[in-house]
Amino acid sequence: MPFLCSGYLATPKCKSRAIRFAIFSVVLAIIFLTASFAAAQKIELSVDASKPGAKISRNLFGQFAEHLGHGIYDGIWVGPESTIPNTRGIRNDVVAALRAIKVPDVRWPGGCFADEYHWRNGIGPQRAVTLNPNWGGVIEPNTFGTHEFMDFINQIGSEAYVSVNVGSGTPHEAADWLEYMTTAQPTTLQKERAANGHPDPYKVAFLGIGNESWDCGGNMTPEYYLDRMKVYSRFVRNFNPAQQTEDQMLKIAVGPGGSGPRWDEWTDTIMKAYQNHSWSWDINGLSMHSYTVVQWPPSFKSVGFGETEYAQILKSTLDMDSLIKEQSAIMDKYDPQKKVALVIDEWGAWYAPLPGSNPGFLVQQNSLRDAILAALNLNIFARHADRVRMANIAQMINVLQAMIMTDKEKMVLTPTYYVYKMYVPFQDATFLPVTFESGTYTHDKISLPRVDAIAAKATDGKLWLEITNVDPNQSAQLEVNLAGVSAKSASGETLTAPKVDSVNTFQAPNTVVPKPISVKTQGGKLTLKLEPKSVTVVSLEQ
Ligand code: AHR
Repeated sequence: MPFLCSGYLATPKCKSRAIRFAIFSVVLAIIFLTASFAAAQKIELSVDASKPGAKISRNLFGQFAEHLGHGIYDGIWVGPESTIPNTRGIRNDVVAALRAIKVPDVRWPGGCFADEYHWRNGIGPQRAVTLNPNWGGVIEPNTFGTHEFMDFINQIGSEAYVSVNVGSGTPHEAADWLEYMTTAQPTTLQKERAANGHPDPYKVAFLGIGNESWDCGGNMTPEYYLDRMKVYSRFVRNFNPAQQTEDQMLKIAVGPGGSGPRWDEWTDTIMKAYQNHSWSWDINGLSMHSYTVVQWPPSFKSVGFGETEYAQILKSTLDMDSLIKEQSAIMDKYDPQKKVALVIDEWGAWYAPLPGSNPGFLVQQNSLRDAILAALNLNIFARHADRVRMANIAQMINVLQAMIMTDKEKMVLTPTYYVYKMYVPFQDATFLPVTFESGTYTHDKISLPRVDAIAAKATDGKLWLEITNVDPNQSAQLEVNLAGVSAKSASGETLTAPKVDSVNTFQAPNTVVPKPISVKTQGGKLTLKLEPKSVTVVSLEQ
């Protein structure tokens, strides 16, 4: 007992040695505890390929492009005379980037903008110059209208989700727009379309009947909206001959904007009516909007934040799951066969506007946190793929949680863009159940699951896994049990970065980009290391 400093042994020298010993013991204990904690970071995951679930619709990876800030003008449209390389006025760099993420559909022209949009302003050689009162009160030149949107959709290989004006427009105006876009018959509107350069009918895959009609779309009660919606559903027809039997246009009604009695009543009103709907009206989808914002007005910074804000935002984004469950339960009451899809056609992170930007333009940075946020939400959608069959992140370019940011001739791809790219194989794949102990990540008394994962069988027969490690400090050793799956080889890539708020900028565009990782397959198991704060996608060749 060398440090027993009592009685005659209680000399100053002995006491100081005792203190040093005590400190040494505490350090040893900390090292021991940390080591055992680190060892506990092993995650075991099992994929059950024998119980395939719903199809993960490719439309869960849809986009939203509103006439808002630089979402359309500068972001997509630069005009044919621009020195920025373009095809008929549409940026070539943006088109190439979007083609690579296989955008299934684009919702346009809004948002709140849609309920004040008059389509005739955006066709023909002379465009009306109007205002955009919702978004900064700026001039709307209408140079990007129906033909330009359809050209854009065609260039990126996507489908049109057109939102018609239920707020300040009329059923007549919307019906004419659809006839203008879709008829093959030589009507006056078809001839006008042909004179404007497109004799063949356009395909309109999805029709949005209003936008947030409970708020910016006209502050309607659910009953009033329901009455209006039925009229639009009845008269706003798609005449495209190729869409009469196969490929019919799907109609999406305005749904809830959150959780709680007000929104439950909204969903209940629409779905109850749907249950008893007659031949003369129908809907195929009910939209839901939910942003990750924590508090209004949006005050969280999109860059230059720390771990607490990282944890707060990610914790808040997980509310999407309970929101979907709440609204799906109401839909299930009236539509147990799940004919009506829950369409999350506005979602994403909404932060404070970047300092110096026009607050009406909703400009924010996009960091590694947003990549993780996107993955968590896409996984939630995939787990509810039987009901949630479409989702549109807000918004595609330069606005809110964007895929792409542009500044004149410059373009940068955001961390969220790379998540969408990594998830391409999940488009139309079949969901496979996974089981795992997620563990818990805690910071500043904020706790959330440490790891999230989904699995799917893709249309090419390969098995795909996505695993998100939310913990920004600890890596995890993942061991995947492949019972019933014979894996010939596996490969994967991971998206991470030095900091939770790392971003890609025009000057440094490759700070947050996916990198290949090593994946081992042996004895029916697959093992890989998950970096802290990372999104990882792995494919298995069977
Ligand atoms: O995405 C920005 C706006 O948010 C949309 O225009 C509106 O529908 C929502 O409130």
